[in-house]
Amino acid sequence: MSSFVDFQNEIYLSGLAGKVPSLPITAAGLQERAREVLEPAAFNYVAGSASAERTAHSNLVAFEKYRLLPRMLRGASAPGARDLSVDVLGTHLAAPILTAPIGVLGLLHERGETVVADVTRELGIGMVLSTAASSTIEEVGERAGDWWYQLYWPNDMELARSFVERAEKSGAKAIVVTVDTPALGWRPRDLELGHLPFLHGQGIANYLSDPVFRAKLAAPPEESEDAMRAAILTWVGTFGNHGLRPADIHRLRDWTELPIAVKGVLHPDDARQCVDAGADAVIVSNHGGRQVDGSVAALDALPTIVATVGDRADVLFDSGIRTGSDVMIALSLGAKAVLYGRPWAYGLGLAGADGVRHALRCILADFDAAMGLSGCTGVSDLSRTMLSSYR
Ligand SMILES: Cc1cc2nc3c(=O)[nH]c(=O)nc-3n(C[C@H](O)[C@H](O)[C@H](O)COP(=O)(O)O)c2cc1C
Repeated sequence: MSSFVDFQNEIYLSGLAGKVPSLPITAAGLQERAREVLEPAAFNYVAGSASAERTAHSNLVAFEKYRLLPRMLRGASAPGARDLSVDVLGTHLAAPILTAPIGVLGLLHERGETVVADVTRELGIGMVLSTAASSTIEEVGERAGDWWYQLYWPNDMELARSFVERAEKSGAKAIVVTVDTPALGWRPRDLELGHLPFLHGQGIANYLSDPVFRAKLAAPPEESEDAMRAAILTWVGTFGNHGLRPADIHRLRDWTELPIAVKGVLHPDDARQCVDAGADAVIVSNHGGRQVDGSVAALDALPTIVATVGDRADVLFDSGIRTGSDVMIALSLGAKAVLYGRPWAYGLGLAGADGVRHALRCILADFDAAMGLSGCTGVSDLSRTMLSSYR
């Protein structure tokens, strides 16, 4: 049974003892505090999106089109009445929330990904580990509870396969292939600072620790500054794969027994192709608006994709989740679970594990409270009938 909403009592009781939370409660508040406190290069790397950032904005505004229609007199708000857990791709989660894969967490905290592994495990929710991490797959696998591995498919098949094998061996429960990033989007905030963390050797731990990648290098990167520079240049030539096709999803199906989710899908035909090629799930996402500015808000793409492949695959949602009600709306439109992105990353930068815990407990409590107050005892109560615009 869920007790995420207990965080509310905890905060009020601390208030009674004269203590107020040291971090803001809302996602917008966390972002504002991060803007004030973090190094500009780190803050802007997280906050920035592509071009004029219209799509990043649209991701949030899209939720305005829907209004929940709460039900009363159902006893759902009673203590212990709710079970928010969900099984998705064979993973049992205490709530339908996973942390989105966010690369280069070392910019925000020296143990970034392992902190997220610890906190998500403690809360019973999922973690999706980025390929572009500052910690290795193995380091995260040792600590994480239920975690999935996000693959940035490099332009070297053997390296891609090695990443997948390492993840499987380290205990990942699914592979998430991100298909919207064969190259980085045009991101003015980073461009204005001339800042790309990878060129400083950040976010490439999984490459530097990989035997296939290391075999490409003339000298081990630890040996000298020149060797590290050469390794970074090798990374530059390896990162993106412009040639990825549905057949590669099929190929991945042969490489691993794990469930496969394709992340970054917006068009229903692409979703169909991925499922035809063997994907078990698609994640409707526009990468938080970081890739194609002016592209559709992720939430606006969700209903059509659910209608197209929802009977054959799980559909997950990402890009723009900021509140518990947002989670309810995405699930009411047919998503099985959501990926939660930037707000916990700000928490990580502001206060390490405490900050990630705070940000995640806030959205979990908000979701739990909103579910109970809407008469929902579990995620199976969420369907289009919960949305006023569909009645
Ligand atoms: C700083 C940053 C780094 C990211 N790195 C990755 C990544 O390595 N792999 C990936 O699939 N998505 C990455 N994403 C996209 C997120 O997984 C997710 O799609 C996005 O954060 C959702 O938007 P939102 O945070 O505004 O809700 C990144 C996003 C941010 C903000």
